[in-house]
Amino acid sequence: MKKIIAIALTLVLTLTMLAGCGGSSAPAVDAPAAEGEKLKIGIIQIVEHPSLDQIRTTFVDELAALGYDDSKVEIDYQNAQNEMSNVTSICQKFVGDEVDMIVAIATPSAQGAAAATTDIPILFSAVTDPLSAELVDDMNAPGGNCTGTSDAIPVEQIFNLADELTPGMQTYGFIYNLSEVNSVSVIEQCKAYLDAKGLKYEEATVANVGELTTAAESLVGKVDAFFSPIDNTVASGMVTVAEIAKDNAIPYYVAADTMVYDGGLATVGVDYVQLGKQTASMAVEVLEGADPATMPVQIMENYATVVNPETAEALGVDVSKYAQ
Ligand code: TRP
Repeated sequence: MKKIIAIALTLVLTLTMLAGCGGSSAPAVDAPAAEGEKLKIGIIQIVEHPSLDQIRTTFVDELAALGYDDSKVEIDYQNAQNEMSNVTSICQKFVGDEVDMIVAIATPSAQGAAAATTDIPILFSAVTDPLSAELVDDMNAPGGNCTGTSDAIPVEQIFNLADELTPGMQTYGFIYNLSEVNSVSVIEQCKAYLDAKGLKYEEATVANVGELTTAAESLVGKVDAFFSPIDNTVASGMVTVAEIAKDNAIPYYVAADTMVYDGGLATVGVDYVQLGKQTASMAVEVLEGADPATMPVQIMENYATVVNPETAEALGVDVSKYAQ
């Protein structure tokens, strides 16, 4: 009799344990099965330029600070060199490697990752307009496997700054890559703003970094100022375009702090260090089981005015109010 009770008890215990393991809500990401088995994160960056590099290094550092250092996670970092075909093959490889999460830096990488998988959680970083990029159904309820951080651009504040620093600009020249949704969406807002003010604009669009010089030169003599949105192609060739603007005494307004450091005149822009940190804390939530479908996109809105004192001096523009 004792023996039968013992067997029955063992059975009950085993069943209870099994039920516990199978738990009703499985986490989105499996915890490492055994000691020594690391989580795999694939990071894809569309191209290397100072803003995106800053986001990536801040992200990795912050992830480690939050407890996910290289003893717990294995990071596979890939740079697509601004080629969509590279984005596709990198993301397919991540899917084949069964990574636990894809971190996609900038819009084109996020679009490539979303096309490659609807299962693996994708955390996008610095996507200007996640709705236009068709990454989420709703900013507050993404609905699928993608969520992340957004660097929406304060267009009106940038033009107000331009009015203050260089009053009287009648015609702006837009330089951007027509295939970057992040740029097209900002340019649409710019056009609406300038139309409402009765101001004019010209455009010089590019398909790759090699076309930037010709594009910028084509606007010289036709416009009073240049403007570029947060365009990954322009940001990677920024020094060249800024030089053309400076040589022709044209104020060049941009949409990111690093584009000012690379020679642009001024912007009102997002703090990308904070954005990288924010992306890391969202990544930790996902690694610990949160579902991207219900995690709102976080929009970074702590804007700062950034000026380039050397460019300003070359143009004779007074930026002392903003220079630190
Ligand atoms: N927001 C851009 C995108 O959606 C990426 C980006 C972040 C960027 N910081 C930048 C582009 C600075 C140019 C300059 O793709």
